[in-house]
Amino acid sequence: MKFYIATDHAGFAVKDYVKSIVESLGHEIIDLGPNDSSRVDYPDFAKRCADAVIRDSGSFGILICGTGIGISISANKIKGIRAALCHNEYTASMSRAHNDANILCFGERVVGKGVIESIVKAFCNTQFEGGRHKGRVEKIEDNFCSFGGEFD
Ligand code: RB5
Repeated sequence: MKFYIATDHAGFAVKDYVKSIVESLGHEIIDLGPNDSSRVDYPDFAKRCADAVIRDSGSFGILICGTGIGISISANKIKGIRAALCHNEYTASMSRAHNDANILCFGERVVGKGVIESIVKAFCNTQFEGGRHKGRVEKIEDNFCSFGGEFD
């Protein structure tokens, strides 16, 4: 698998740790910044990573901010992105199995290093189940920009 990773200043401290976990599993990971812990705006780095995932078909992303909330909301504005804010191994594995998430998000201020390791491993090691979940995931895209249409 190929991954892109980006953070804001509140996720920067664990970026190298996450990269080492992904590499230890035999995957490639490309660092999209930032390069130091100076204050930055999470929407900028969410967009950088989300754009890379969309351009590079079949790749995945990892986004980290303080809570994981701002960076996941931002990434989900990009068409084709399914960014999942995960808090533990179960949510990370379900985000792949049922939602076909293509970006994993979490909060550095929320989870410790042990939980981060289990989240990243679960995300990397779980396949999308397809089947009944496929149509639901397709409906996510159908909903994109539906405002302006008719209300049911
Ligand atoms: C930065 O202080 C913090 O607001 C940001 O990292 C993130 O938690 C926002 O959702």
